[in-house]
Amino acid sequence: MKYLTLTLLLFLTLSTFGQFQPNYDESKIPDYELPELLLSEKHGKIKSVKAWETKRRPEILELFADQMYGKVPDVPYSLDFKVKQKGVSILSGKALLKEVEITISTVNGALPFTLMIITPNSAGPHSCFMTINFYGNHTLLDAKNISLTNSWVRNNEEFNITNNKATEASRGARSYRWDIDAIVSRGYALASIYYGDLDPDYDDGFQDGLHPLFYGQGQSKPKPEEWGSIGVWAFGMSRSMDYLVTDPLIDARKVAVMGHSRLGKTSLWAGVNDQRFALVISNDSGCGGAALSRRAFGETVGRINTSFPHWFNDNFTQYNENESALPIDQHMLLALVAPRALYVASAEDDRWADPKGEFLSTYHANPVYKLYGEQCIDDPQMPAVDQPKMVGKTGYHVRSGGHNVTDYDWEQYMNFADQVFN
Ligand code: GCU
Repeated sequence: MKYLTLTLLLFLTLSTFGQFQPNYDESKIPDYELPELLLSEKHGKIKSVKAWETKRRPEILELFADQMYGKVPDVPYSLDFKVKQKGVSILSGKALLKEVEITISTVNGALPFTLMIITPNSAGPHSCFMTINFYGNHTLLDAKNISLTNSWVRNNEEFNITNNKATEASRGARSYRWDIDAIVSRGYALASIYYGDLDPDYDDGFQDGLHPLFYGQGQSKPKPEEWGSIGVWAFGMSRSMDYLVTDPLIDARKVAVMGHSRLGKTSLWAGVNDQRFALVISNDSGCGGAALSRRAFGETVGRINTSFPHWFNDNFTQYNENESALPIDQHMLLALVAPRALYVASAEDDRWADPKGEFLSTYHANPVYKLYGEQCIDDPQMPAVDQPKMVGKTGYHVRSGGHNVTDYDWEQYMNFADQVFN
């Protein structure tokens, strides 16, 4: 009996305190006040584009780097580009495939990764989506010429991936998320890198991937303010852009950076740091991406830092169950995209990512767009499901269905890109 009572007690304790219960009830969202975009403790009220660009924007960017995504260590590196193959006909001659091996080198060693570029088979230069993927470039399209990565890949029975190795059988396994036919038909190029080439997505104390290349003497893990995995993946997107700006097939002034989910968090971080990206797209990026942290709806800061301790920097853990102490919130991240174009997409059933929180931060980024005199979404009413809203430089939709990237999402990205690039 005593044993039974103890077991019951343990069970009750675990189910009450040990397990995270996400809040999906709007009425239980804590009262919150968002930090003001155009008010700096140090510089006062920000009234001009100049004051934004020279004072407040750097201040906010520094806070996100220092307190959340992590700083790139100040270590010199060099880049090398090797075109491995080009002009390879794919999609029945509709498109051309190119692969570029990009090597990042520091005094500690070198790390190569492969940038895949698919261009329409017509005269360029082409506008381009720079993207990052979860299972390897070869999973985006079933084409035999796309090379397989040698890096760690997450096992997935459905995709025939075992032993953490890319397999022939996984070619095209994720093609349902990449509407490449439609993308090239509409005249866009698609560039993509595999995130695991830059940093395998598991918590290994930062011993593999790019981190060790950037350690100082005697250092064996990033400092509390230095980058986690998202920082490294975003860095990889920017190094890819370093190549794209040299490629005559690509119109470097019309490159959108796009990612989904954890890689949507990544595309946002890449897009705010690298102003060469003319359009920044977040697909279902949720907590630590487009969603407001202070709403604590669905996934929370404490939860994400516990499940994925390698994504953000160590400083970010001080906000676990303590969102109101954050000196920033995610509307400020989105505002750093201004005056460039921004598109945020949610999915109705993806409550874990807090669709409303993703919309609200898009809306609350508006003071900075207005400071630039740009049109943007400035109606606080969330658009209805499957009713995309594109106003000047910002766009948003909540699609029916769940956490995914669908042809519908791509269609909106291209509609918006057509609008802002032309
Ligand atoms: C988990 C995680 C999310 C993330 C998602 C993904 O659900 O909690 O923050 O966006 O994985 O990347 O698929």
